[in-house]
Amino acid sequence: MTSKCNSGFFIFPLLVAVLSSCGPEFEKRRSYLFKEPLRNQYHFSPVSGWMNDPNGLVFHEGVYHLFYQHYPDDKVWGPMHWGHAISTDLLNWEHKPIALYPDSLGFIFSGSAVVDNNNASGFGAAGQSPLVAMFTYHNPIGEQAGKNDFQSQAIAYSLDSGKSWSKYISNPVIKNPGIRDFRDPKIFRWESENVWLMALAVKDHVEFFKSNDLKGWEKLSEFGKDLGAHGGVWECPDLFTLSDESGNTKWVLLVSINPGGPQGGSATQYFVGDFDGMRFVPQDTVTRWIDFGADNYAGVTWSGVSESDGRKLFIGWMSNWQYANAVPEQGWRSSLTIPREIRLVKRDEAFVLKFSPVSELSQLFGQPQTISGASNLSVPGNLIEVNGLEGKEIKVIFSNKKKEQLIVSVGGGKVSIDRTNSGTVGFNEKFPAVHSGPLDGLVVNNLKIFLDAASVEVFVNDGDLVMTDVFFPTKPMTKVEVFATYAGTSLRSISSVWIK
Ligand code: FRU
Repeated sequence: MTSKCNSGFFIFPLLVAVLSSCGPEFEKRRSYLFKEPLRNQYHFSPVSGWMNDPNGLVFHEGVYHLFYQHYPDDKVWGPMHWGHAISTDLLNWEHKPIALYPDSLGFIFSGSAVVDNNNASGFGAAGQSPLVAMFTYHNPIGEQAGKNDFQSQAIAYSLDSGKSWSKYISNPVIKNPGIRDFRDPKIFRWESENVWLMALAVKDHVEFFKSNDLKGWEKLSEFGKDLGAHGGVWECPDLFTLSDESGNTKWVLLVSINPGGPQGGSATQYFVGDFDGMRFVPQDTVTRWIDFGADNYAGVTWSGVSESDGRKLFIGWMSNWQYANAVPEQGWRSSLTIPREIRLVKRDEAFVLKFSPVSELSQLFGQPQTISGASNLSVPGNLIEVNGLEGKEIKVIFSNKKKEQLIVSVGGGKVSIDRTNSGTVGFNEKFPAVHSGPLDGLVVNNLKIFLDAASVEVFVNDGDLVMTDVFFPTKPMTKVEVFATYAGTSLRSISSVWIK
């Protein structure tokens, strides 16, 4: 084997994968991988095996790190590892070796990562800023024994910019107080107060902790037992600040919940309010959702993004626990949403969030081509943009040679995605459905529809309302028809982007 084969880097449009072997089998796999019919072309997916939540999102030295819940040995959920990938532009991802493996304390469940700039943890050498990750240990032996204390919080650190990780010798850093659902720590650096904050999902609420050194954590308060949606367990919280265009700064809390989402199963709600160093106080008692589709779960934001960039960048898992383990697969399961920028805006006297596609995405798509009526889609990656709608109704139908259809429509006070006849749908009775998001008085001017081989993401007015759904056509979608003709309906197909 040549060293070139061993290093195993090969290049695909949008993705670079690292494989560890060579020879004919490798060549066969290589010629097929990332071109599988159901493989999304501009969304992140694992090379093989199972993936769920994005974890440890941190920007460091010009690189976006993306870790994720991963079971490399099967295509269903199992003993969790942290898979790892990096990118400099949020579009092209380079797969890296697994960062964290399960050990005697348990599986490695979801969590976050931060740059410890002043080496408060002491993990770094002089002048070195370690990366510190915090995750949940899930001990399957304790769970099987019927105990309640099998989830605890632990840390790991990297001194080589995320390439390799060491688990802290005194783990866990937060022991379980006897509660079964006690997980998904998300750390936030509260710069002005010189302190680390952490949000933790605890069964039906969130608990906030603080720390000076990322090792010792003090519980501050609890939030949410009587607020928000409670149709399922609370998971994967995220706490951060956000300022609107007038300079108002608010605190935002994202909380995933499963089941109990607006389309059934998994979904993410959010609260906007204030945090006084102890307690989070929401602006009102309204339950708000970040997405009205069925497939945007466990999403969180990147830490470490520079102030000069200033964006709050988000990515979610494009699936739903209702059927995630049963969806059609071709060697791997699931992909992540497109990265989104979260913005704070005021609507009807309340602060709400807008989730917009990150600006980097525009590099992916070729010149706009104006469409009216029917058009062909030549490649799996497309962006359909409709401008100047001024509140009128529209229906966009994607179809293939098998007459399978995915329909996106605006009308009757709502935005809908109909995937009832979108291909393979029978693996779960909940899957073939029409999902709708209420416009609640919003006037739709601009509609962006991001279509990939097996997913659709709809953005109204650049993020006032968002819907994300997956679907599994048995042949690629090759046609788009628009039923309503407005000046400014354009189709942009993905251009051939290759990593240098
Ligand atoms: C959310 C979740 C987390 C947990 C992880 C396990 O999808 O259930 O709460 O840490 O997945 O894989």
